[in-house]
Amino acid sequence: LFSLFLLLLTLQPFSVFSQSYSNVSLGESLSAGGNTSSWLSPSGEFAFGFHSINNRDDAFLLAIWYDKIPEKTIVWYANGDKPAPKGSKLQLTINGGLELNNPQGEEIWRAQSILGVVTYAAMLDTGNFVLVDSNSVHIWESFKNPSDTILPTQILELGSMLSSRQPTNYSKGRVQLRLLTDGNLVMNTVALPSNYAYAAYYVSNTFGSGYQVVFNESTATIHIQSQNGSILLDLTVGSIPSTKTHYHRATIDFNGVFTQYARPKSSSSSNGYESWSIGWSIPDDVCSFNSQDVGEGICGYNSICRIVQNRPVCGCPNQYTLVDPNNTSSGCKPDFILQGCNGNGTGTPEILYRMDELLDTAWPNSADYQRRAPYTEADCKNSCLYDCQCAIATFRDGNCWKKSLQVRNGRQRSDVIVKAFLKVSADKNTPRNPHPAPSVPVDHNIPGSNPNGEEKDKGLFSVVAAVLLGSSIFFNLIFLAAIFMGVLVYYKKLKEKVQKPSSFETNLHSFTYKDLEDATDGFKEELGRGAFGVVYKGVLGLDSKLVAVKKLDKVVQEGDKEFKTELSVIGQTHHKNLVKLVGFCEEGQHRLLVYEFMSNGTLAGFLFGSSRPDWNQRTQIAFGIARGLMYLHEECSVQIIHCDIKPQNILLDDCYTARISDFGLAKLLMTDKSRTNTAIRGTKGYIAPEWFRHLPITVKVDVYSFGVMLLEIICCRKSVELEMGGDERAILTDWAYYCYQEGRLDALVENDIEAMNNMGRLERLFKVAIWCIQEEPSLRPTMRKVVQMLEGITEVSEPPHPYLFSC
Ligand SMILES: *[C@@H]1O[C@H](CO)[C@@H](O)[C@H](O)[C@H]1NC(C)=O
Ligand SMILES: *[C@@H]1O[C@H](CO)[C@@H](O)[C@H](O)[C@H]1NC(C)=O
Ligand SMILES: *[C@@H]1O[C@H](CO)[C@@H](O)[C@H](O)[C@H]1NC(C)=O
Ligand SMILES: *[C@@H]1O[C@H](CO)[C@@H](O)[C@H](O)[C@H]1NC(C)=O
Repeated sequence: LFSLFLLLLTLQPFSVFSQSYSNVSLGESLSAGGNTSSWLSPSGEFAFGFHSINNRDDAFLLAIWYDKIPEKTIVWYANGDKPAPKGSKLQLTINGGLELNNPQGEEIWRAQSILGVVTYAAMLDTGNFVLVDSNSVHIWESFKNPSDTILPTQILELGSMLSSRQPTNYSKGRVQLRLLTDGNLVMNTVALPSNYAYAAYYVSNTFGSGYQVVFNESTATIHIQSQNGSILLDLTVGSIPSTKTHYHRATIDFNGVFTQYARPKSSSSSNGYESWSIGWSIPDDVCSFNSQDVGEGICGYNSICRIVQNRPVCGCPNQYTLVDPNNTSSGCKPDFILQGCNGNGTGTPEILYRMDELLDTAWPNSADYQRRAPYTEADCKNSCLYDCQCAIATFRDGNCWKKSLQVRNGRQRSDVIVKAFLKVSADKNTPRNPHPAPSVPVDHNIPGSNPNGEEKDKGLFSVVAAVLLGSSIFFNLIFLAAIFMGVLVYYKKLKEKVQKPSSFETNLHSFTYKDLEDATDGFKEELGRGAFGVVYKGVLGLDSKLVAVKKLDKVVQEGDKEFKTELSVIGQTHHKNLVKLVGFCEEGQHRLLVYEFMSNGTLAGFLFGSSRPDWNQRTQIAFGIARGLMYLHEECSVQIIHCDIKPQNILLDDCYTARISDFGLAKLLMTDKSRTNTAIRGTKGYIAPEWFRHLPITVKVDVYSFGVMLLEIICCRKSVELEMGGDERAILTDWAYYCYQEGRLDALVENDIEAMNNMGRLERLFKVAIWCIQEEPSLRPTMRKVVQMLEGITEVSEPPHPYLFSC
């Protein structure tokens, strides 16, 4: 801990030579480690220039900092990922660029998108460094290119982003705060080193109306405001000291919370360091975000996150230590040998390991690879102990879930209801302390304010050394090989992840427009119309394969990039309940998609035709759709929300297997990182209520649509029968719940004998449908749960009334 503390202390700059204020003229320069290494604002409160990183004299950061306080707190920086060596030079060049070059003259950083011709530069008293043109217009500002902090008077415009830094240096960190162009303020983690943004863990719900995030100087508060200046959401809570007596800043910290800090301007203090104090922070509980998305979250894999005064404390379970001892968010790894399934039998499981219970701990939505039921607690522990893949088991109500590393979403809360068991080394005499040893949360900018935390675990190196010294040569070789393999696999995975979007070209066939014109005989036979265009029947190639060719007509609005992204993701999906994409055409204005041809048409035609289709066939179709949706939601490399599930978009192949089609409206969390929306997507009658209620759009919108469709499948009628007018039966969802309450399922299925003969299944399907159409998204089950309930693997409990405000 002490070394960590020292390390953090050294993040503070040592004193730098500053040049007193004047406008910076073209040609002036600063040099890293040289006599003139910064320019001051007129009041002397802010400095712009070189700042040594970790007290090294060979690594400098081009930064802006509070210069009158001993901490010299940094509020902006340019080259966090590429520290500048001593002798690097920052120059306001004659031709108007702001350039940072190393001593060899190679570029390290330059100000991007300067909107005009620079005449001079200035460090302002607000903390904004500006480039100014001859009309005194600011044509570049550090305020418009923020790092991880905003200051009073600063405004975040639509499309702006703050990005956290690493806990120990100024490299890009794992969390982002963005004001999306749709008006929502969101916070999310990213998959370093790529920029892939995982699902947001905070959403302001100001989409459509949010316009700016304003840090008001006179009130020292931060709010989201609309275009006409009205305040939509005050982020600031509680009383905030005045900007006259205190310095203020709001920073997205590496631990995922956006925090407003304040600090008295007078720097006199007994220990020489007057700390910044925390005003408020959002969100209240970053640990409890139930991410369905992959990713290591705030604390890293295998960690346990808990909240202490609205801030996360990352800990490791017993006998686990931090991957990077200096970084509390780096995740955890076992500090004993967890043999996995390739161990060469140095002992039997019951000799090597034991299962320790972790109190109040859970890993919800982490990838369980197995679930067993009905099981006793003892069965569950044993099952994990003897299963070489298993690292953790959780148990509740006769259910046992088994997990292998890397587990996600680990958290410790008093209201956790599962029991968690961790496989640990049996010959470590660690006290059976069920609580995770917390690693200490440290905010680098608050030296001295660190909670006097408990002992930190051994570092990585001491663990490796201990293992190496304490075992045979043979064992060491295996151990080193394992590490090497691990690193290889990790890099391979990373590479795959980064390269994914471009791989579709190899998976799918690219057609010319002429090819498809020929195949469809000049777009003659129309099969149907989807949200995005008309579908035509076609014949391809030598084997006369039948295809469905969809001609997209809204490409201009959707944009080329979206077309490609959709294509790449949908091209990668393979599931027997999804329509397969065969190829595409992208030529000039033309955008076409080529799918397998489905001989039995749409589910709508099947259900709402003249004769009532077979009950068994209908239930099999319902199961198939559920499995297809589960795949889209949980099993693809990128989560896909279909957004337009309805019988017209379900096709039936030769064997009447249901195939989900028409992904034209689908939301891919790769492009729509935040799960928030700009416009309502979907079809009336099937759209989940949250589209109208400005709530985040999640996979649960598909669950809702599935519920409506399941009722249609059960009843063989449309969800809305307008010709029934004011009849109580007109709206299927209302009518269905009414019948259910009255115990009149027979009326609902209109005396369908087959269905009635199978009352158990009918009731089950029916209850699942009611669960799915719950107005409150969180009450709706996941598609995985739906599949389990439909198949009878899980009991279906009594669904509540679907509407929130009913008695
Ligand atoms: C900086 O330049 C501007 C425009 O030439 C001038 O108005 C201002 O007074 C100058 N400030 C200082 C401190 O020289
Ligand atoms: C830096 O300052 C020292 C002493 O103040 C002086 O001797 C030296 O020449 C200066 N170097 C430059 C590059 O101006
Ligand atoms: C900063 O720290 C991170 C994690 O500790 C490390 O991966 C990265 O290389 C460091 N960056 C620099 C510029 O040293
Ligand atoms: C800051 O708040 C004050 C008082 O509410 C208000 O008069 C002023 O217009 C606000 N400033 C900005 C930039 O919104």
